[in-house]
Amino acid sequence: MKTLAPSILASDMLNLGAEIKKIEESGSKYVHIDVMDGCFVPNISFGMPVISCVRKCTDLILDVHAMIVEPDRYINDFISCGADIITFHIEALDNERIINAIELIHSKGKKVGLSLKPGTVAEEIFPYLELIDMVLVMTVEPGFGGQKFMHDMMKKVTAIKEKITQLDLSVDIQVDGGINEETLKISKKAGADIFVLGTAFFKSPCIPNAAELLDE
Ligand code: DX5
Ligand code: ZN
Repeated sequence: MKTLAPSILASDMLNLGAEIKKIEESGSKYVHIDVMDGCFVPNISFGMPVISCVRKCTDLILDVHAMIVEPDRYINDFISCGADIITFHIEALDNERIINAIELIHSKGKKVGLSLKPGTVAEEIFPYLELIDMVLVMTVEPGFGGQKFMHDMMKKVTAIKEKITQLDLSVDIQVDGGINEETLKISKKAGADIFVLGTAFFKSPCIPNAAELLDE
């Protein structure tokens, strides 16, 4: 499935309810929620209270992107706040804890995404492809909105897409960072399915239309 995942990091937090309505009006299916701890990434965003508030005001899929150390410690909290998809970074845990975290999320009936920073090669994700629902390829260094899209990451998207096809899996590829109308098209061509938009969604003069952007 192809969809937009607008990131509330770039939204007007004082009017979060109205911002979520914009996401609904755009035809997007996901709300992307960037949780940052000031340790895994050099920035602090928001956590459980914000996820709970968003859950109360929409039935859209809540796509939580955990940019935190020891993400496995917070899985139960993310789920009780209403997360539908929990994405954590492959760089944040060792192999055993990654496997245990995947199993825990699935045991609660939720979906798992695994994310790669720009410096992490495609092959690192291959052993986990059969166990997860989504791969998040970062197209900027995680931590801040409004950065420039890294075109180099398209080779990684294509390599992961080829492996997913070869294994005959239905794992989505999400791209996150510097996505706008132009880079969405480029990453879609490279094999991405789900497009996180922060700045390009919330700072746009009019509400973007998902179907138009996805060319459906
Ligand atoms: C960056 C976050 C992104 C961010 C994207 O670490 O993961 O989701 O909100 O923002 P833009 O679209 O402005 O690059
Ligand atoms: Zn994100």
